[in-house]
Amino acid sequence: MMNDWAGLPATYSDVLRRAMDSLFRTFENFSEGTFIVDAEARVVWINKRYAARFGFADPEQAIGRDCEAVIPNSLMREVVKTGKPILLDILETDREPLVVTRLPLKDDAGETVGAVGFALFDELKALTPLFSHYSRVQEELIATRKSLAQARRAKYTFGSFVGTSAASLEVKRQARRAAQLESPVLLLGETGTGKELLAHAIHGGSARANQPLVTVNVAAIPDTLLEVEFFGAAPGAYTGADRKGRVGKFELANGGTLFLDEIGDMPLPLQGKLLRVLQDKEFEPLGSNRIVRADVRIIAATSADLPALVAAGRFRADLFYRLNVLTIHAPPLRERASDIEALAYAMLEDLSTQARGGSHYELQDDALRLLCAYAWPGNVRELRNTLERAVMLSDSERIDARALAPFVGSGQGGALSAIQGAPHAQPPAVAEPGNPAMQPSSWNEAMAAFEKRFLSDALRANGGRVVDTAAQIGMGRATLYKKIAAHGIEI
Ligand SMILES: Nc1ncnc2c1ncn2[C@@H]1O[C@H](COP(=O)(O)OP(=O)(O)OP(=O)(O)O)[C@@H](O)[C@H]1O
Ligand SMILES: [Mg+2]
Repeated sequence: MMNDWAGLPATYSDVLRRAMDSLFRTFENFSEGTFIVDAEARVVWINKRYAARFGFADPEQAIGRDCEAVIPNSLMREVVKTGKPILLDILETDREPLVVTRLPLKDDAGETVGAVGFALFDELKALTPLFSHYSRVQEELIATRKSLAQARRAKYTFGSFVGTSAASLEVKRQARRAAQLESPVLLLGETGTGKELLAHAIHGGSARANQPLVTVNVAAIPDTLLEVEFFGAAPGAYTGADRKGRVGKFELANGGTLFLDEIGDMPLPLQGKLLRVLQDKEFEPLGSNRIVRADVRIIAATSADLPALVAAGRFRADLFYRLNVLTIHAPPLRERASDIEALAYAMLEDLSTQARGGSHYELQDDALRLLCAYAWPGNVRELRNTLERAVMLSDSERIDARALAPFVGSGQGGALSAIQGAPHAQPPAVAEPGNPAMQPSSWNEAMAAFEKRFLSDALRANGGRVVDTAAQIGMGRATLYKKIAAHGIEI
């Protein structure tokens, strides 16, 4: 039946055909870019202006190419594959973004045979507020990503690891070697020995230095959240506060390094999952069907006795062997007492630059000797904290033993224990607040005990020769004799 379009339409299909026709024409008229692909997402038609915008002087040059080769970031392949339209989208281009509409083209049997896309780049005026909002959000996102990337860079380099003792040089040598390799690194050592510092330095010295360094502190995250923290979750995958979905640390670290701190605290089920990811180099975020490739270098650290945890069945042996390829033991500070001086000077230098008013802190010789006599159970971190406190509370920039002693061992008998116990090669003198034997009853008593111990050590080191000892410790000979007598020191 023929229709007169001045009158009323007779059938729905006729209206539909007309509407479609008109819709397409409207789109075509208003859109400055029209683009058609076949079932393989290859360009079958593109208008001149759109082709020119993407660098094709003649549209013919674009025909037959994959859609992405003509329009980078094109999603026409997805439309062809799913048969579903993308009614409104923003296409990022190297110039301003475009508003695009993509529709599947179907044959009579409903099969998708191609897709048509329209770019509305001259009709953006109505969308200006939306666009400026979008641009602002986009700029903020870029800035945030930049500062995040900055934060994910290595904080320390090998140069930050102070120490020239044989043990420190060996650690640095091993860490430098580890930086050249790709296998996992396991950092073992007591608390405060510089494991985190080494992890940063290894990443910073590796080929992955320009990629992210992402840290997960296993001990700091509740077991129930760890899996999501590691592998991420699809939106709505779990009924937590986090319904938006979450990108896991593995994915964030892609191309870079994942630093697993306190790995000894990892719950057993997660150890199994981690092992699988290390073997397969891919994983699936929780509740998603997405496979994520994990090109991630692992650096793990723990202050726990990992072999003992393996023996106790609390750490999987297979994971331990997987991680235990390049193992670096950060030695406790008491085993490299010769580093204490350099460390203390470096730290004071640091504290001086941090201090306002151009302070320049100096350690007197007796203060240095006090530091060297203590066993530092908290290692370098404890040394730093001690100096920081002493500097903050000291009246003078020249810090002597008297000013320092209250802070060594947190003033809980640590200084005294350092004085009383043989200083090095001993188990750490852990201050026990409840132990009266370790508590000095007064300042004078503590200082006297320190002095006696210090002088005895100095005399022993000089074979009991008072003259040499006096010269070495910078004390007058007569004073030294008097003190030997006063303390009842046997030579
Ligand atoms: N050799 C070193 N030279 C300079 N600073 C150091 C050195 N070793 C450790 N530090 C400093 O000591 C502090 C503790 O180091 P770090 O956090 O790396 O220790 P850790 O082994 O990770 O300890 P924990 O097991 O408690 O986490 C940091 O401030 C670090 O910069
Ligand atoms: Mg640490």
